[in-house]
Amino acid sequence: MNSLKLKSLKLNCLQSLELLKSLGAQKHSLLRGRTRANQKTLALSLEPLKGTVSFVISLVAVGLVLFICSVSGAQAESSVRPPANAVKNEINKDAAKKFQTNRIPGAVLNRSSDADTWRAIRHGVTGNVSIPDKKAGILVQDAGESYRAIRNGPLFSYLGFSMLATLILLAIFFAWRGQVKVDKGLSGRKIKRFSTIERTGHWLMAISFIILGISGLNISFGKTVIMPIIGKDAFGPFTHFLKLTHNYIAFAFMLGLLIAFVCWVLHNIPNRGDINWLLKGGGIFKKGEHPPAGKFNAGQKLIFWGVMIGGLSLSVSGWALMFPFEYSFFSSTMSAFSAIGLDVGNWTGLGNAPYSVIQEQQYNNIWHAIMGVLMICLILAHIYIGTIGMEGAYDAMGSGDVDENWAIEHHSLWVEEVKAQERSADGANVQAAE
Ligand code: HEM
Repeated sequence: MNSLKLKSLKLNCLQSLELLKSLGAQKHSLLRGRTRANQKTLALSLEPLKGTVSFVISLVAVGLVLFICSVSGAQAESSVRPPANAVKNEINKDAAKKFQTNRIPGAVLNRSSDADTWRAIRHGVTGNVSIPDKKAGILVQDAGESYRAIRNGPLFSYLGFSMLATLILLAIFFAWRGQVKVDKGLSGRKIKRFSTIERTGHWLMAISFIILGISGLNISFGKTVIMPIIGKDAFGPFTHFLKLTHNYIAFAFMLGLLIAFVCWVLHNIPNRGDINWLLKGGGIFKKGEHPPAGKFNAGQKLIFWGVMIGGLSLSVSGWALMFPFEYSFFSSTMSAFSAIGLDVGNWTGLGNAPYSVIQEQQYNNIWHAIMGVLMICLILAHIYIGTIGMEGAYDAMGSGDVDENWAIEHHSLWVEEVKAQERSADGANVQAAE
């Protein structure tokens, strides 16, 4: 900018000199063909003109100097242009290790070649910028290509395979074990298992999770599985609709998760009896074996905590995907691990924290997909046991009442508790009546 101004100043001066020269030449030619008296008269008549030209030149020069000063002053005060110390680079890529931290790539001329500088930029050297958009600190984000290759390649293959494997295992188990029956047969007497609020929380969580699962799987696998069937023209609006559904239904899931947590957390605190239950495989592998359990057995406690921790993790990573570049959950989590001596960042291949805002998004995306599929596998097993896998189980969430014999076989300690409560309530009623 300044050099432009100086150039134009120089140009103006040259033009003025040219003007003076031409005026001088005019004067010379006039003098040649006239008498001395004439020359004298002409010289006198040119004097005021010379004064005017030099005045104009000085005026233009002063004006230009003032203009240049005012422009440079305005630039120094500008809030858009970062101050001189605004750019501070931290080189966090292997390829850029030769550069020390807190150096501007352009200021490394006395230490390395331009080629090295550009190579560092090519491999994602990260700088800090004073503008709000922190992504501007990275000129070239080369991790994007490897992220895409991992996501669309091995990651989705493993995730798809996990769900398929879960379904196959459940089918094999069902073929081998059949439905787990109530050994003593249904008694016909009912026990209240879940209240309306418990079932509302469960179904809010369950229905929204199923919708989230279907719409999420379409985002991951739809292009490969659905698009060839329904065609590109239908797949576009279909996916757009499912994506919006996914975003909004997430809030219903979070609410359901919260209700279920509040209702059931106290019943899901692990205890010693759970070890015995687990050692006996919950009695599911052997007919007639029923290890004692409270309102929830150890298997259900695992489901409960899996759903709560997985659901929370899905909610947090989903939130960060909905409002991109706002959070740095991975950097803070890995830094917390490092603080207690666990180098999880390097074990998992993520590298040292802090990560760039774009890496944060990529890791979030991969994490969300992994957690989503793990939860789908867990829930497939849960739905199996809550429906065809076990006689009488569905009623607990359907009507809220279960058969007494079912309850005694699967939750004997809980039945004792309920009976004890009923007896003390009856006793209190009798006392009150007397
Ligand atoms: C069609 C789908 C589903 C059915 C038929 C179903 C069925 C059931 C049943 C019958 C119970 C009560 C078991 C008992 O009485 O002990 C239950 C409990 C539970 N369900 Fe579901 N459920 C379904 C989907 C889901 C989903 C999608 C989630 C979570 C994302 C979920 C989370 C839970 C949790 C945390 C419990 C309490 C712990 C447990 O019993 O395992 N359910 N479900």
